[in-house]
Amino acid sequence: MSKSFEDKKYAPIGVFDSGVGGLTVAREIMRQLPQESIIYFGDTARVPYGSKSKETIVRYSRQIIHFLESKGVKAIVVACNTASAFALEEIRPEMRMPIIGVVKPGAKVAAESTVNGRIGVIGTEGTVGSQIYTEMIHRHNPNAVVLGKACPLFVPLVEEGWLKDPVTIEVAKRYLATFQESEIDTLILGCTHYPLLRSTIREIMGDEVNLVNPAYETAQGLKCLLEQNQLANDSKEQKTFATYRFFVSDAAEKFKNFASSILPCEIKEARLIHIEE
Ligand code: DGL
Repeated sequence: MSKSFEDKKYAPIGVFDSGVGGLTVAREIMRQLPQESIIYFGDTARVPYGSKSKETIVRYSRQIIHFLESKGVKAIVVACNTASAFALEEIRPEMRMPIIGVVKPGAKVAAESTVNGRIGVIGTEGTVGSQIYTEMIHRHNPNAVVLGKACPLFVPLVEEGWLKDPVTIEVAKRYLATFQESEIDTLILGCTHYPLLRSTIREIMGDEVNLVNPAYETAQGLKCLLEQNQLANDSKEQKTFATYRFFVSDAAEKFKNFASSILPCEIKEARLIHIEE
């Protein structure tokens, strides 16, 4: 194997989202692939993505992917459902490296694990409006009934750090009331911010409903993708050297503190960059 090809295995994985939500995916990658380094980009200047048009999300995603490529990543994880729904298939043909989103893995596990065939999906207006989860679920389980509900206020509440605030609980009750008579047995947390509200959602939905966080399957999918492309960092010595770097487009200090509170390691720095330039 040539030297440069070997070196590529030690390159970091690029992970991005509109803000802190994608950290729920980064956290899972850190857990399942502890030898892999990560470069994370949170587009904190332009959050939320969920209410923006497809054209805008494709443009933002291209800019971020170019930035991550310039940092020498070996693969990209689109740790955002909205960008996965709107931009992934558009951008994939332009890519020279593996890229994976969060929708397909989440849809697959929900389709395969539902017992009564009734699945709820909560996400941004963009993700729910795109019907992408319904489409992907039907590929695995054509008879499944899929009920979507956009929960646009969840993202700003999470970005604000109000994870268990009474206001957040009230908002969650109103959104999730949609599912009261629906008899769903599975609910997909179809926005990477939402796993941070998991305990609130669990309390409202009850224990009978299986909450699917696509981050787990995304990290598994990433592992397969790296192996298939001979990009997995399989060096034993390299294990201790996994590094995590964070970049944002605004409010770096706030991001750094939030990231430190939910990741298994302390974040020393989140660097501010001008992504439009
Ligand atoms: N966390 C993202 C998602 O999974 C984006 C949320 C937003 O910025 O609206 O959809």
